[in-house]
Amino acid sequence: MKDAYTMVSCSWKHHAALAEIGASTFYETFAADNTEEDMQAYIGKTYAPKQIALNLAEPNIHYYLIYQGTEVMGYIKTIVQFEVEKLEGKTLELEKIYLRKEAHGSGMAKVLMDAAIQLARTEKANNLYLGVWQENERALAFYKKSGFEIYNTRQFKLGARVCEDFLLRLRIVSDN
Ligand SMILES: CC(C)(COP(=O)(O)OP(=O)(O)OC[C@H]1O[C@@H](n2cnc3c(N)ncnc32)[C@H](O)[C@@H]1OP(=O)(O)O)[C@@H](O)C(=O)NCCC(=O)NCCS
Repeated sequence: MKDAYTMVSCSWKHHAALAEIGASTFYETFAADNTEEDMQAYIGKTYAPKQIALNLAEPNIHYYLIYQGTEVMGYIKTIVQFEVEKLEGKTLELEKIYLRKEAHGSGMAKVLMDAAIQLARTEKANNLYLGVWQENERALAFYKKSGFEIYNTRQFKLGARVCEDFLLRLRIVSDN
């Protein structure tokens, strides 16, 4: 029998695990479409353990890790925001949702997404939103089956390369 999944709401002590899973899943996802130099520059800045520790200290940022047994398989990062173009009121951004390749299709993505939706309800946010590269077809299919709709576009820069993103949102009915 496979080990059950465990979700953990992160604190400072998880910063090294978050840095490792963040860097390795970002590399796995985007290395084929970008230069090694751009990848390393982005990873060095975004996933440095020190940077993750600083993020964890921000009251509006939350991370969750998902484990299978004792192994870290994926994570989410969320940010509470108040002024997001085209969205009204309080909003939760699902800034990152990443699983190791071997966990794709396992059902863990739904567990992570449900945690983000629950956090949005607890925060009494009106919307959960995220940005996704328009060519990331697997992620787009997952978001659509999770109930998200495209409401805008934006550009995301990785080194010299400009990527076209869709912005997607899920309306949230908050807990009382
Ligand atoms: C995005 C992510 C969390 C989704 O988790 P997942 O386990 O892959 O999601 P699921 O398998 O439940 O759903 C993906 C769906 O896309 C389908 N799919 C797979 N490849 C596809 C493709 N090339 N085009 C369209 N649909 C595709 C799958 O069949 C599945 O649909 P189904 O459940 O109806 O069969 C995961 O793929 C991931 O971590 N990817 C790498 C990191 C990433 O891209 N993160 C998002 C950045 S915005």
